[in-house]
Amino acid sequence: MFWLTGLSGAGKTTLARAAENRLFAAGVDVTVLDGDTLRAGLCSDLGFSEADRTENVRRAAEVARILRDAGQVVLVTLISPLKSDRELAARIIGENFAEIFVDAGLDVCEQRDPKGLYAAARAGKISSFTGIDAPYEAPQSPALRVETGAQAVDAAAGELVTFVEATVRTGAGQRKRG
Ligand code: ADX
Repeated sequence: MFWLTGLSGAGKTTLARAAENRLFAAGVDVTVLDGDTLRAGLCSDLGFSEADRTENVRRAAEVARILRDAGQVVLVTLISPLKSDRELAARIIGENFAEIFVDAGLDVCEQRDPKGLYAAARAGKISSFTGIDAPYEAPQSPALRVETGAQAVDAAAGELVTFVEATVRTGAGQRKRG
């Protein structure tokens, strides 16, 4: 179970999708659970209050556990800004939870601003935006930190794939059937 946390615009989804393609090509049964996808359906009733983010994390972790127990290697990509929420996810997953910090600085994310949300947050058009007027608690001791500020997607994905393959090889990434 690989839990990717990082600011909006840090590249979590891009990184996970690139890694997913490579892992799939290598014969790994891999699934990405992405925040935007979950929020479009399963979590469409949730907003961005702390309580709603906690519930978002809880649902993602529960789904991830089901998929993991069915034999999938699961990459979850959620901002999951609070340490306590990531600890909740780790408790739900139970074993073999790897926290991965997708690390690009706020300045870089805000400059990229792929969805124009940082500009909207600065203009006061949306509130409680992570990194602007809502907190992001960076992991203090992640299992892996992938630098996505300056590093190209290919290189970053390579680091993630190497880590996932090494973890899965030792049997730590997923639970065996039965
Ligand atoms: S989380 O905080 O609950 O983990 P999640 O990863 O599901 O967040 O969703 C983040 C995505 O929602 C961002 O990439 C962005 O596109 C969008 N979004 C909309 N409003 C906000 C907000 N106030 N804070 C953060 N992201 C937001």
